[in-house]
Amino acid sequence: MTTTATTPDPSTGSTKAGSFDPIRARRDFPILTRTIGGKPLVYLDNAATAQKPQVVIDTIRRYYESQNANIHRGVHRLSVDATRAYEQARAKVAGFISAARPEEIIFVRSATEAINLVAQSYARPRLGAGDEVLITTLEHHSNIVPWQIVCQQTGARLRVVPINDAGELEMEAYGKLLGPRTKIVAVAHISNSLGTINPVKEIIAIAQRQGVPVLVDGAQAAPHLPIDVQALGCEFYAISGHKMFGPSGIGALYGRFDVLDAMEPYQGGGEMILSVTFDKTIYNHVPHKFEAGTPNIAGAIGLGATIDYLDTLGLDKIAAYEQGLLDYTTKTLASIDGVRLIGTARHKAAVVSFLVGDIHPHDVGTILDQEGIAVRTGHHCAQPVMQRFGLTATVRASLALYNTESEIDVLGAGLRTVLEVFGS
Ligand code: ALA
Repeated sequence: MTTTATTPDPSTGSTKAGSFDPIRARRDFPILTRTIGGKPLVYLDNAATAQKPQVVIDTIRRYYESQNANIHRGVHRLSVDATRAYEQARAKVAGFISAARPEEIIFVRSATEAINLVAQSYARPRLGAGDEVLITTLEHHSNIVPWQIVCQQTGARLRVVPINDAGELEMEAYGKLLGPRTKIVAVAHISNSLGTINPVKEIIAIAQRQGVPVLVDGAQAAPHLPIDVQALGCEFYAISGHKMFGPSGIGALYGRFDVLDAMEPYQGGGEMILSVTFDKTIYNHVPHKFEAGTPNIAGAIGLGATIDYLDTLGLDKIAAYEQGLLDYTTKTLASIDGVRLIGTARHKAAVVSFLVGDIHPHDVGTILDQEGIAVRTGHHCAQPVMQRFGLTATVRASLALYNTESEIDVLGAGLRTVLEVFGS
């Protein structure tokens, strides 16, 4: 199946043409041939973690089989080669999100660690009592808790942009909440629980007019949309390897060079120093001063392989395909009596949260699992979003480039089975 559809601009939702063949892409992911209880796996939990193409698995295996060494430390051949591969991966990440230079990419273990780094290294020294950190109701816990911690440490106050019933940010409220005390704005590019694509370009432009830096949590955007941090104009952008078909335990923080250069590290150790005496340590240059200790070398190189893979497919084509699949999924679920969609934003990525009658989401997930279908049930690490809708949990189907309309038909049939089982 090859589709032609329209691609949403990462920040505005405007469109351009593209084409993509998901059946061909499926062959790159060995796990997708698995069965679960005798039924073909239908993997719809991509917002939790995405599956890995063979090329990424092979790259990591090859690294450990024939290239493993520590980096930036050895004169021997293995170390030099490993260092080169690690730094090439940094350059690939920079290219992937259109950073101006590779030094603007810091390898971290996850998007969560990237946000903690900004909270502690950028925000903590710059916040005082009465200052404000502005986030939104749509955030994942990883873009809430690090800010709560830094607010407790500094006496600053956390402020929250509300959302409407469709799960969209209330932009008028955002404009009002952004005040003279706001020291940083932190916002998800795409909501992991509802799929809302936030107007991050507009959010950044408004913050910039007041000289307020913006961190974008791009964990859910990187596998689905082309990203251009220079066009967006943000100071920080966080991505997560495992959500974009790469290894777990690796992520990256983009920071504009001048901003990173003015920041102090919050973790100390090897790698991040130029010289150490008991009196004084001189820190290494950006980005190394933020990478204390031996990093996840294999993970970074694996992430580089993921980026090569995604470049081959084309993120614009993937995005276009997924928009069509989102429409199909929304229509399929909406046609089932008893299914209620939570999160109906105009600009959405392929994440669909829903309820099935008054059946507990965990029960729905358990029965779907018996049909071979993997969805996430619960609060999706976004409890404030659930609270906004008066819920404790939803069922969430989150799609990726290898999902197909036939799989959505299997999901629809599975939900009818759930309704039958519960006599609804
Ligand atoms: N952030 C992950 C999710 O949305 C774990 O499921």
